[in-house]
Amino acid sequence: MKYSRILATGGYLPRRIMTNAELEKMVNTSDQWIRERTGIRSRHIAAEGESTCDMAEQAARRAIRDAGIESGSIDMIVVATSTPDLIYPSTACLLQKRLGIRNNGAAFDIQAVCSGFIYALGVIDKFIRTASVKRALVVGADANSKILDWTDRATCVLFGDGAGAAVVESGTAPGIYTTQLCADGYYSDLLQVPCGVSRKEGEPFVRMRGSEVFKFAVNAMSGLVDETLSAAGMQRSDIDWLVPHQANERIISATVRKLGLPMERVILTLAEHGNTSAASIPLALDVAVRDGRIRRGDVLMLEAVGGGFTWASALLRY
Ligand code: ACO
Repeated sequence: MKYSRILATGGYLPRRIMTNAELEKMVNTSDQWIRERTGIRSRHIAAEGESTCDMAEQAARRAIRDAGIESGSIDMIVVATSTPDLIYPSTACLLQKRLGIRNNGAAFDIQAVCSGFIYALGVIDKFIRTASVKRALVVGADANSKILDWTDRATCVLFGDGAGAAVVESGTAPGIYTTQLCADGYYSDLLQVPCGVSRKEGEPFVRMRGSEVFKFAVNAMSGLVDETLSAAGMQRSDIDWLVPHQANERIISATVRKLGLPMERVILTLAEHGNTSAASIPLALDVAVRDGRIRRGDVLMLEAVGGGFTWASALLRY
């Protein structure tokens, strides 16, 4: 039986840090409001000329270096992003070129907003288990600052920029036990960037009905966690670490209560990263692997909700 497992991770955050105090000078908000309602204290913001692919490349290079592999041995690249450099080619193809990988299997993007990294992991897992892919690069990267309306206090305080990557390879033991990928486009109005190329209308800014998003996220997460455990024949007590999408501390706390996990078993980067969309889970994973909290053999539950709506989870042994 073939399984896929994470060999190494890498993360990248832009150098510029924007604090809540800075936002106080830009919109009618306060550090206290942002901290109490979301848990966010600061976020990283990409430089003017810094793109999603620039950040993805840095994260990917770190993951490849720590995996101790040649980039040419990667036979599939999937980039989860909602802020691609170009309409086409995909950010994955641009990244493939940057990494000097030539004609070595598929490279494509996945757009599932904040659930994107888990969607990408789920797709890679299937390719590794059932096809000939042996080693893949999965990246979540988003330059959210480029699609924020910096006069809209309801959204601009929530997001940040960054990229996270994982090298995933085939093995004979898990690895990834299960991934659950879900979507319901009925809720597409709740969170949108209502602008595109085929409809020549709208503005390229995040628009959100915050409290409805909040309720949806809490409901979706509470069902998903148990479905994921039961798909893998595992129990809540088997989970060593919850690595949730970092959108809002109150959404995370609700999931944690449902799982009966102590908060010390939850990886939280929200305070310093804000919501980095597709990058949030691989960045959190990378932080906890590097600081020694997540160790080889630990069981991790990854879970996310994002625009679409999409929601997804992965249960894996690191
Ligand atoms: N500073 C100060 N006041 C604000 C701000 C702000 N930045 N933003 C909104 N307010 C005001 C509102 O205008 C409103 O004022 P009013 O009562 O005078 O009308 C008041 O605060 C309450 O607004 P609500 O939207 O009801 O506040 P809520 O408690 O729901 O918190 C928040 C807002 C933090 C956005 C919350 O709804 C939330 O976290 N939703 C989830 C959004 C999210 O995480 N989106 C990320 C993308 S999706 C995902 O990743 C899951």
